[in-house]
Amino acid sequence: MEINTINIAIDTNKCTVCASCMHVCPNGIYAVHDKKIAINPLRTHLCIACGQCMAVCKSKAVQQSKLDYDTDFEELSPDSASGTFDNLIKTRRSVRSFKNIPVPEELLLEILNTVSYAPISFPPHKTEICIVQNYELLAKASGEMMKFYEKMPKLLANPIIRQIIKHKLTNRQFMVLQNHVMPIVTTKINNKTGENEDFILRNAPVLLLFHANTKAELIETDLHIALTYAMLGAHAAGLGTCVIDLVAPPVNKSPELKQLFKIPTENEVFSALIVGYPKVHYFRTIKRNFAFNFIGNT
Ligand SMILES: Cc1cc2nc3c(=O)[nH]c(=O)nc-3n(C[C@H](O)[C@H](O)[C@H](O)COP(=O)(O)O)c2cc1C
Ligand code: SF4
Ligand code: SF4
Repeated sequence: MEINTINIAIDTNKCTVCASCMHVCPNGIYAVHDKKIAINPLRTHLCIACGQCMAVCKSKAVQQSKLDYDTDFEELSPDSASGTFDNLIKTRRSVRSFKNIPVPEELLLEILNTVSYAPISFPPHKTEICIVQNYELLAKASGEMMKFYEKMPKLLANPIIRQIIKHKLTNRQFMVLQNHVMPIVTTKINNKTGENEDFILRNAPVLLLFHANTKAELIETDLHIALTYAMLGAHAAGLGTCVIDLVAPPVNKSPELKQLFKIPTENEVFSALIVGYPKVHYFRTIKRNFAFNFIGNT
């Protein structure tokens, strides 16, 4: 058993080196070296305890100290009633690793047509969806987005620019930038790990950009409901998706990217989904609890 300082471990007696954990980890913590799975100690601090590595490991060889196979996961049986809402919800995962096959355009249009039945605050729909399926364009856009984030550590180190950025973002947006985005970017730059990794679009074959006129009332809520419907619709059709909120800031900031995606100047991208056929199979779902406040009659 190899144990590192933040308590991610692989039981080498159980590991079959299928590499599924490496494919699903959002932060590149696993790699295959000398026909063995290895944990990159320069990246373990990026672990968000998402449980993906444990959900894909058939032999339960991964141990992450914050998660327990018995209490935090539920086995997915292959013969569970696939058409039920319960099964649809439990089998959805954020998918960031895709098979190298295209998604038929008709399938995407069929899913998005169904999404148009989603509730909206005030008809008609103000959400607009840009479907990008061009590999070259996606690679170019992803490169531009990564450059945007890679400039950030220098900008944030300058107290004046830091204040300007802070002023332009909401408190919560700034916290996300500081606590979640910057650690990934600085690790990539300082430790020279994951140089070739596309940590934004994940080499997905399809990108859906959800955009709208910023003056539309309650647009953020409408748009996120539509995006959630799209996520579930795609999953029901055998596709995998992941919300990528890292897309919106660089696109909205760059007239070139907006033009590349044909986003009208008066519109803003609020969120995005990457879509494709999932590369790996999940053997269990991850349980997460809401805080309930139940007020009954007694
Ligand atoms: C609002 C929102 C924004 C997200 N942004 C990103 C992102 O920029 N990059 C990414 O890899 N995952 C992103 N995710 C995916 C989450 O990390 C993921 O949903 C979470 O780890 C739980 O995993 P699960 O969806 O498999 O249950 C986002 C999810 C949501 C709901
Ligand atoms: S998913 Fe499990 S079996 Fe496969 S390489 Fe990772 S630890 Fe080993
Ligand atoms: S819990 Fe998530 S972030 Fe942490 S090592 Fe596993 S897959 Fe990676």
